[in-house]
Amino acid sequence: MLNKVLTLSIMVIFAFSMIAFAGDKPEYVGASKCKSCHKAEKNGAQFPKWSERKHSKAYETLKTDDAKKKAEVMDVKDPLKDEKCLSCHTTAYGAKNLAKSYKIEEGVTCEACHGAGSMYKKSSIMKDHKKSVEAGMFAKADEKVCANCHKKDTPGHDGKFTTYEKEVKKIAHPVPTENDRRKK
Ligand code: HEC
Ligand code: HEC
Ligand code: HEC
Ligand code: HEC
Repeated sequence: MLNKVLTLSIMVIFAFSMIAFAGDKPEYVGASKCKSCHKAEKNGAQFPKWSERKHSKAYETLKTDDAKKKAEVMDVKDPLKDEKCLSCHTTAYGAKNLAKSYKIEEGVTCEACHGAGSMYKKSSIMKDHKKSVEAGMFAKADEKVCANCHKKDTPGHDGKFTTYEKEVKKIAHPVPTENDRRKK
């Protein structure tokens, strides 16, 4: 009897820790979920800046004539359906941890560089750098992050990426120091 109770309790504990574990994995929520707090000019207008540049159009690009040419070179029938294109022209392609708000059409979003955002996007966490990092945020996407997609040898691509320092300036979206809401 005691044995049975023990086995049962272990099973229950195990089940609960599995649930807790599943809940611990951050999900990709999409750029629309970052917009409300990251659009104001005085805070650095990260969302509008991203919208104006090509990362936000990376999926749309796959519909162009140029895309058809690249698809031929890479032996791809439909760029909008093939992993060979979507792996670089969208965010977290093939990942299981996608929230309902995730949209493939948003292309290369904030989360492609800053990590899946469901656990750090809360105001109380975002305002605290340390807590944000603990919740899965990469504050400074480094060369390795860019290199996931900016490769020198992608067929049909000319590989325009020069150096990290130069390229990162083109997409810069800093928070103006005087309006920084972070706890230091
Ligand atoms: C390894 C990552 C990667 C893969 C795989 C990839 N792309 Fe790209 N694509 C890029 C990057 C990075 C750029 C930006 C320009 C550059 O660096 O060449 C780009 C640019 C483009 C452009 C814009 C043209 C330009 O020069 O600005 C088109 C169109 C395109 N890709 C289509 C495709 C298609 C179609 C596929 C699949 C057959 C594909 N790409 C696969 C990373 C990739
Ligand atoms: C292509 C990669 C990339 C994308 C996409 C991107 N970021 Fe960033 N972000 C970076 C990098 C790299 C830095 C750090 C730059 C540095 O250290 O100079 C940064 C910095 C930041 C900072 C901190 C700035 C500071 O002054 O400390 C904020 C806030 C931010 N990003 C928000 C966003 C939001 C919101 C989006 C989407 C709307 C976004 N980012 C999209 C790469 C990216
Ligand atoms: C998930 C893949 C991915 C990651 C990660 C990524 N990029 Fe890109 N990047 C692309 C694609 C795809 C394009 C081309 C989009 C198009 O032309 O439609 C592009 C285009 C660019 C461009 C040219 C277009 C523009 O708006 O200026 C710059 C600059 C750039 N990326 C910088 C960076 C930097 C810096 C990093 C790292 C901090 C980075 N990217 C990370 C996929 C990626
Ligand atoms: C509820 C509001 C809110 C939402 C939603 C939000 N952020 Fe933030 N975020 C902030 C605040 C406040 C800061 C502190 C910096 C500042 O003053 O803008 C910040 C800072 C950041 C930083 C710099 C963090 C550091 O400590 O270096 C990044 C990167 C960032 N956010 C990315 C994102 C991304 C990506 C999303 C969407 C997944 C997002 N944020 C959603 C409020 C928010």
